[in-house]
Amino acid sequence: MQTIRGFRDILPEQIRIWQKIETEATGLFKAFGFEEIRIPVIEKTELFARSIGETTDIVEKEMYTFADRKGDKLTLRPEATASIVRSYIQHKMYAVDPVRKFYCIGPMFRRERPQKGRYRQFYQIDVEVFGVASAYIDSQLIFLLNELFRRLGLTGLSAHINSLGCPECRPGFQTTLLTLLESKKDQLCGNCLRRMNKNPLRILDCKSPECKAAISDAPATIDHLCRECSDHFKIVQSTLEKQGVDFKVDNTLVRGLDYYTRTAWEILTTSLGAQSAVAGGGRYDGLVQELGGPETPGIGFAIGFDRLAEVMEQLEKAPDPDTVDLFIIALGEAAMEKSYLWYSELNQAGIRTEMDFRGKSMKALMKRADKLNAAQVLIVGENELERNAVVLRDMGTKTQVSLAVDTLVENLTRKMTQSNETG
Ligand code: HAM
Repeated sequence: MQTIRGFRDILPEQIRIWQKIETEATGLFKAFGFEEIRIPVIEKTELFARSIGETTDIVEKEMYTFADRKGDKLTLRPEATASIVRSYIQHKMYAVDPVRKFYCIGPMFRRERPQKGRYRQFYQIDVEVFGVASAYIDSQLIFLLNELFRRLGLTGLSAHINSLGCPECRPGFQTTLLTLLESKKDQLCGNCLRRMNKNPLRILDCKSPECKAAISDAPATIDHLCRECSDHFKIVQSTLEKQGVDFKVDNTLVRGLDYYTRTAWEILTTSLGAQSAVAGGGRYDGLVQELGGPETPGIGFAIGFDRLAEVMEQLEKAPDPDTVDLFIIALGEAAMEKSYLWYSELNQAGIRTEMDFRGKSMKALMKRADKLNAAQVLIVGENELERNAVVLRDMGTKTQVSLAVDTLVENLTRKMTQSNETG
């Protein structure tokens, strides 16, 4: 049996990098005042259709949607924002405090064509802020991403930002854009033609070379912003400059989800081939209200966990597995019986102890201790038990001491804790 196409196992050797990322990310999020939230993997299809947008690639062709046994239409979550907004509204979180900051880590599902950096089950590290309309939060989230990547030692990433306007100024921009698109109709791909009247903004980031050429002189959203959106975007940029965050204003950045207003951004890498976005996000000031909640601004981003891990893998070897503090060599049944109890107690005391139960020879077990990189080996044989003293061998210095059986666990725990503290 094999995994299905686009789905994969993340093996222990890879997980070490994932854990490093997760530890760094959650530490940073906590320092910035974010709380963890966990949401279901399955939701009503309608939630995603209404928030992400009926004419987006995700909703039109990438969702895993099915009818359950009662015929309810359900979908495996393709992203986390819609569910977190649903949760914010469902639990009336705004009634206690409209300002809430969340992070959420978990798998998402999109039926895209699999390739390097693109999977059908992938993971996101998602961050959302509710209740703050100020542009400083836009800058803060981009700064936060930048800081996380800096701490992880990543270089060569670039932040692309844009402003998509609001319901006040976007219709005017769309009209101007449509005029141009009408005149270029014969040069646009089928997908763009279909979207022209429903979602013209998306045409700005069509990857087809013909479409790109046809709209090379397309108007930029930032030249059609209303006063408020324009001031907002200026504050975002000047704050990022003051904080020393490198960024580029990118007029073609429109994002693949329809809920965005004002600031939108992506963090791009050149090291993953076609899949260049490691993270993406933006403001969605109308979404809470659209899904039935009170008027509440929202903003957030998601990092592609798989992609970030792949960029990290290119930079560094996975961290070594935790080292084994003690390997117990038990020779014979009686030794095994005694040693098993010590082994459990030592693990319980937090000493990373290993033991082999296959009844192998002393030579084979020493080899295994070496392979596991054990710092110390405890040798327990029939003779040692008779003499009530077992042998502890330091694998680094190759010296041995004899330890009394009665006080063995306390003695070892003390020794190991001391050497872990000094080492
Ligand atoms: P998104 O741009 O669709 O945004 O996804 C965010 C990130 O998830 C992408 O930049 C990419 O790194 C990763 N990603 C997306 N699809 C795949 C895939 N098939 N395989 C591997 N990685 C993938 C969102 O999902 C928004 N919910 C972000 C957001 C949060 N906006 C506001 N709040």
